[in-house]
Amino acid sequence: MASEWYEREEWRSVFTSSPDRVDPDSNIIATYLVTPGDGLDLLSAGINIAAEESIGTWTHVKTLKEHVYRLAAKVFEVEKLGDGRGLVKVAYPLDLFDLDAGISHLLTIVAGNLFGLSALRSVKLVDISLPKHYIRMYRGPKFGIEGVRRLLGTDRAPRPHLGTIIKPKVGLTPRETAEVAYEAAIGGVDFIKDDETLTSQKFNPIPERVTYVMEALDRVREETGRTVLYAVNVTADLDRLWDHVDAALDHGANCLMIDVMCAGFPALRALAEDPSVNVPIHVHRAMHAAITRVPDHGIHMMVLARLVRLAGGDQLHTGTAKGKMEKPSGGPLSEYSGVRGIRFINDFLRSDWHGLKTVMPVASGGIHPALVPANLDALGSPDLQINAGGGIHGHPWGPRAGAMAMRQAIDAYMKGIPLEEYAKDHPELAEALRYWGKKFM
Ligand code: 3PG
Ligand code: 3PG
Ligand code: MG
Repeated sequence: MASEWYEREEWRSVFTSSPDRVDPDSNIIATYLVTPGDGLDLLSAGINIAAEESIGTWTHVKTLKEHVYRLAAKVFEVEKLGDGRGLVKVAYPLDLFDLDAGISHLLTIVAGNLFGLSALRSVKLVDISLPKHYIRMYRGPKFGIEGVRRLLGTDRAPRPHLGTIIKPKVGLTPRETAEVAYEAAIGGVDFIKDDETLTSQKFNPIPERVTYVMEALDRVREETGRTVLYAVNVTADLDRLWDHVDAALDHGANCLMIDVMCAGFPALRALAEDPSVNVPIHVHRAMHAAITRVPDHGIHMMVLARLVRLAGGDQLHTGTAKGKMEKPSGGPLSEYSGVRGIRFINDFLRSDWHGLKTVMPVASGGIHPALVPANLDALGSPDLQINAGGGIHGHPWGPRAGAMAMRQAIDAYMKGIPLEEYAKDHPELAEALRYWGKKFM
């Protein structure tokens, strides 16, 4: 049998390049953590990816003309990491893409068939680098961190925002939801969201829920002068998503929410780019762990965060330093792993990205007051929203005291006072510390 096509010098030159010949302004660059299949070296594994996702296939085809070579993706960096794994960087020329086709098309190429190639034992798309020209084809967030701060009135003295998820996550009626929302808002939350599993079920349809919750939040504004955002989960198949959006906005919603991995990036983008949607969009990522959690295979959360920013999310769940959920894994890549990995993502969301607005990172999942300092320290403050569902509604004295305790924990952190000391004259905090103790610490 002849040697494999990718071992021939001719194809090596088509599908590889030296790093200095890769122009970052005219290529989309993908970094993969690759474990080659048996008997394959790293470079050949990379060539398999580059070929499969551009002009090649498993064998040479007679129909391949030389003018097509300019569209070949090229492996331009290969770095061995030990254990048979390595990093492979592939440059995809911009001309390969339908630039108007957006994120779904981008993913088909940089994160498509390659995950199933039997030539690779495993492969994780760790990060992507997009040319300025490409990024500018997207509008990104409408509000960003600054815009959300302006709505909440925290722009002059920035502090972390406090959010809650109404619990129980499903089952309450619209009126009951509004009662819980009122208590949490009076207690001091800045932000209330539906759980990812609640949309417009029979027991709690969006029109009634939004009417009652917004009435409750209007009362809170009259009584305290504070604005509280309520993110209504509009996640649905596209035809119904717009019904949910219309119902939410018609009844006064001041924020929308979407489960981006379940509804898809195009749904988020359509929502964010629609002129009728003039409220921030909170992005939950339920299901992400199916593709982000395995260390050596799948797609890293950093890539998803970049796509959410392109598509226009104003706030994105990125994980907790201390909480109930697992942390990201970049395999052997320490900056992409664990708490450091979350911080890396958060700092990306907060920093300039070719003119697109920023995105507020959200830490959520298992947080209670005792965990606030560790989360703020590790994840970055003040540009962080810290959410607690159980950690507010599970407070022994109820959601108002629960929200107060969380706010007290944030205030203590901002003043540089240890929680135990602050708790001496803040009984709600003292009770929370007593009740949850060291859970998740
Ligand atoms: C939840 O819904 O319980 C959590 O927010 C999920 O975790 P995440 O915020 O890390 O995605
Ligand atoms: C969310 O949707 O972010 C949550 O359901 C978090 O809930 P928890 O604080 O009770 O884990
Ligand atoms: Mg939830």
